Amino acid sequence: MELLKTKAEMRQAVAACRCDGLSVGLVPTMGYLHEGHISLVRAARAENGLVVVSIFVNPTQFGPSEDLARYPRDLERDLALCREAGADIVWNPEAAEMYAEDAATWVVVEGLTERLCGESRPTHFRGVTTVVSKLFNVVRPDRAYFGQKDAQQAFVVRRMTQDLDFGLDIVICPTVREADGLAMSSRNIFLSPEDRTQASVLRRALDAAEGMVAAGERRTATIKERVQQVLAEASLARPDYVEIVDTNRLQPTEVVEGEALLALAVFFGRTRLIDNTILRIGL
Ligand code: PAF
Repeated sequence: MELLKTKAEMRQAVAACRCDGLSVGLVPTMGYLHEGHISLVRAARAENGLVVVSIFVNPTQFGPSEDLARYPRDLERDLALCREAGADIVWNPEAAEMYAEDAATWVVVEGLTERLCGESRPTHFRGVTTVVSKLFNVVRPDRAYFGQKDAQQAFVVRRMTQDLDFGLDIVICPTVREADGLAMSSRNIFLSPEDRTQASVLRRALDAAEGMVAAGERRTATIKERVQQVLAEASLARPDYVEIVDTNRLQPTEVVEGEALLALAVFFGRTRLIDNTILRIGL
């Protein structure tokens, strides 16, 4: 496995593999990898000749009140995990390599980014779509892998990829969970022991909603009310939002028709956890 730092090295490595006719899979990450990321690397390994993992803590997706410096990092451990999962290249650029000082261009996906996480993090998604565009432009992958855990991000990137004709497949892989149902996240290390115990309430809230839909409930207001009730059972949980939206435009819907995304964001102390499920009729 190779560790590359610059765009030029990355371009050169991919060009050489392309000459050998290999397809390229990209797993974009911000590092501090866990089993959720590794499941993406394994999916990429199964489907591509060359697997690239990018590790870059992207400053432009952090808001002014969000602590970029506090974001966890452990490159040595990440490299060992990537090697074990079968990655060929880890690309770990510095911020100055990724962004020119006078950079003036943003990639913005309208409509899908203002609600849900975009409401409390208004500049977050333009940071994500801008850096992901840059990663796509340098690596030129055939497929890029994202987790369903960050469903809004995955749907926004999928829309951007279609709208801007990037010509690659966005593969959305299932959320990987701890034994008690908590979705794996690099932010889970910030939870206190009590927060961590109570955080499994997110999965229970999603289960309750799935159960209601399976039993025939279609009204999203009723489902959201029940989800709020379940979340209230955890005394340390402070819900940021509970939303049910369509999976195309990510706009609120009054009834579940076909499929809809139930997405939650809940604070435990200063740590904001997100989770979601796709509610499907007839499953
Ligand atoms: O999900 C993440 O880790 C980041 O938002 C991503 C997609 C790597 C862009 O910085």
